[in-house]
Amino acid sequence: AAPGTTVPFVPSSPLLAPTPNSSGRVEFPADFLWGAATAAFQIEGGGAEDGRQDSIWDVFCRIPGAVVNGDDGMVACDHYHRYPQDVALLKSLHLDSYRFSTSWARVVPDGRTVNRAGLDFYSRLVDELLEADILPWLTLYHWDLPQALEERGGWPNRDTAYRFADYAVTMHEALGDRVGVWTTFNEPWCSAFLGYTSGAHAPGKKSPELGLAAAHHLLLAHGLGVNALRERAPEATLGLTLNFTVSDPVDPTNPADVDVARRDDAMFNRIFLDPVFRGAYPQDILDDTAHLGFADVIQDGDLEIISTPIDVLGVNYYNGGAVSATPPAQAPQGTAGPDGERTTAADGPVWETRSPNPVPDGIYPHSRGLPTTDMGWEVQPEGLTRLLLRLQEDYSGPRGTALYITENGAAYPDVVQDDGSVDDQDRLAFVDAHLRAVKDALDGGADVRGYFAWSLMDNFEWALGYSKRFGLTRVDYATQERTVKASGRWYAAVARDNAVPP
Ligand code: NOJ
Repeated sequence: AAPGTTVPFVPSSPLLAPTPNSSGRVEFPADFLWGAATAAFQIEGGGAEDGRQDSIWDVFCRIPGAVVNGDDGMVACDHYHRYPQDVALLKSLHLDSYRFSTSWARVVPDGRTVNRAGLDFYSRLVDELLEADILPWLTLYHWDLPQALEERGGWPNRDTAYRFADYAVTMHEALGDRVGVWTTFNEPWCSAFLGYTSGAHAPGKKSPELGLAAAHHLLLAHGLGVNALRERAPEATLGLTLNFTVSDPVDPTNPADVDVARRDDAMFNRIFLDPVFRGAYPQDILDDTAHLGFADVIQDGDLEIISTPIDVLGVNYYNGGAVSATPPAQAPQGTAGPDGERTTAADGPVWETRSPNPVPDGIYPHSRGLPTTDMGWEVQPEGLTRLLLRLQEDYSGPRGTALYITENGAAYPDVVQDDGSVDDQDRLAFVDAHLRAVKDALDGGADVRGYFAWSLMDNFEWALGYSKRFGLTRVDYATQERTVKASGRWYAAVARDNAVPP
């Protein structure tokens, strides 16, 4: 296809042909883990309760125009008070595990002093989960840095990595007797590049250099955290969750497009994967970032710490994209980005580049004419199969690290029927297609051990506030009433039967 035009979706992988799993009943391995995910800032509320202080997201929400509708996290889904009901909800959905995050700003509000009352909330939550026989899957950092630490330089400051390791130990001292699965970070790409390079996320800084320094220190913090936890609990299951894209060149015969796809893959995927699984940044990334001083933030011994073996690689997958060195003839409505960046044309000329890539950009997403979700993201389940097979072969597999889908799901503009129900067949079809894609990867040899739907319930979608709904359960924010959607009922049956129905 000529660059600059909308290309039809040309299969670039044999997997795009119908697979044995694309129809019919699909069974999963007997011990496959079924779960749902949330994150502290997105659901808890209780923003100023029991000693919690501001995180960078509380402060960001107060910047006029930063978050759609001026929404904030002060009440959110009121999970801070309704957690027993939410655990009962998980149970009613037949789920084995609940992926949640703990709020550093609740537990160590000033960045140094432990707040016992904050810790107690997580202790109560974990007890409630165990009582319901639901495995707690705990993430230590899902984007909400204590503002006090941002004021001391945030993630571009190396010291923040050491503060994170202290916080990890604090959490383990409190919960290590009851929690066996620990994830250090959720999507450090977003924290680094949406937070410090594009400015679309808290703390809203706009600098390629800061984004790169943040990325390295997030990785260092991960490694320090893994070492600290491993020392305390050799038997614990330790991991990291990354967000991935699958970058296809618009024109695979055009070297410029191929190079753009390489850079896209480098700055989303390999910048985190290679240090963690191979103990080195890829040479092309070092070359491309040389002028930004990236090499200067990397100290001797860092990569050894960062590449400490982990047990689990958490995979967050929403979509991939076709990229070109040439802008599309028309700006797509919304971006093809994999996550979190501004997604509507009204937010600015986001179509100019695919992402807040700190390397001088010129990465243009092109629509492939696939259906899109309410985020403007293409629905591309086969990308998940390709991604899992690649991770297995090139990264996690050689290290014996298990793969779990820690997030997958879709925002759609739900319609509430007169009887209060939500018949979200679009979301149901999305999850169905992606579970089939996971099974394709399992059949191809990927060691995938579980799947967490994003999300258990509608919640605060970062810069898009409450305007986007990802839940298997609807939240009525006026009453805090939860209503399981059709997709949630369907997913509950999948978890119960360990199989996707025909
Ligand atoms: C990834 C993030 O981890 C989560 O917080 C977010 O809500 C979803 N993607 C959807 O954008």
